[in-house]
Amino acid sequence: MTIEITREFDLDSELILDSDAAAALFLEARTANSWADEQISDETLQAVYTLTKMGPTAMNIQPLRIAWIRSSEARAQLVEHMNEGNKVKTLAAPMVAVLSYTNEWHNLLERTTPHMASMAPTFEKNLDSRNTMAVTNAHMQAGYFILAARAAGLAAGPMTGFDASGVDAHFNANTSYSAFMVVNLGKPSGVIDRQRLPRLDFDSATVTL
Ligand SMILES: Cc1cc2nc3c(=O)[nH]c(=O)nc-3n(C[C@H](O)[C@H](O)[C@H](O)COP(=O)(O)O)c2cc1C
Repeated sequence: MTIEITREFDLDSELILDSDAAAALFLEARTANSWADEQISDETLQAVYTLTKMGPTAMNIQPLRIAWIRSSEARAQLVEHMNEGNKVKTLAAPMVAVLSYTNEWHNLLERTTPHMASMAPTFEKNLDSRNTMAVTNAHMQAGYFILAARAAGLAAGPMTGFDASGVDAHFNANTSYSAFMVVNLGKPSGVIDRQRLPRLDFDSATVTL
C-alpha cells in the first residue's frame, strides 16, 4: 500500500534512499499486530541497537535503556501489566522490548560527553532538568528504535497502553529506570489487519515563514 504523499510530487527524486528503502522504513511499513512465526536472533537485536544508538540526543546523553523480553516467564510477567487490548499481541510477538529512560544519565557524562563532564555536579542537583532531558531524548531514541527495527527487517508494534508503575516495580526495581514504551517485534506476517489512518498533509502540519 502506497500512501497519498508519494503521488503529490516526485518523492523519489528528492530522496537519497532508494525507493525500496524508503518503502521499508517509512512508506509501506506498518505498525504490526501479528508476526511471522520466526525467532529473532541476538545478532538482529544487536543490529537494531547499533543503528538506534547513533541517532542524535541532546548533549549525547543517550538516556534510553532496553530490556529484551526473551524468557516466557518474563513475558508472562510483562503481559500482566499490559492493557487488555495489548495482551494478546504482546504474548504472540516473537520478541518484546521494554523501553525505559534513566534520569541518572549525568553519571555517564565522562563516557558520553567528556568535554562537558564537569557539568555532572550541576545536573546532580537538578532532578527536574535531568527528568525533562531523559524523557525528551529517550522518546526520540524510541523513534530511532522503531526505524532501526524496520531497517533490520522487523515489524514493530509500539505501545504505551500499559501500567508503567507495575512494569517498573517488576523490571526496574532498584534502578533509576522508568518504563515508557513497550515494543513488540517480529518478522512481518504480511497480514494487513486495518486500513492506514490518514496522515496530515504538508500544508496542515507545516508553515513556511
Ligand atoms: C508511542 C505509541 C504508542 C502506541 N500505543 C499503542 C497501544 O497501546 N496499543 C495499540 O494497539 N497501538 C498503539 N500504538 C500504535 C498506533 O496506533 C499506530 O502506530 C498508528 O496508528 C500508526 O499505524 P500504522 O503504522 O499502521 O500506520 C502506539 C504507537 C505509538 C507510536
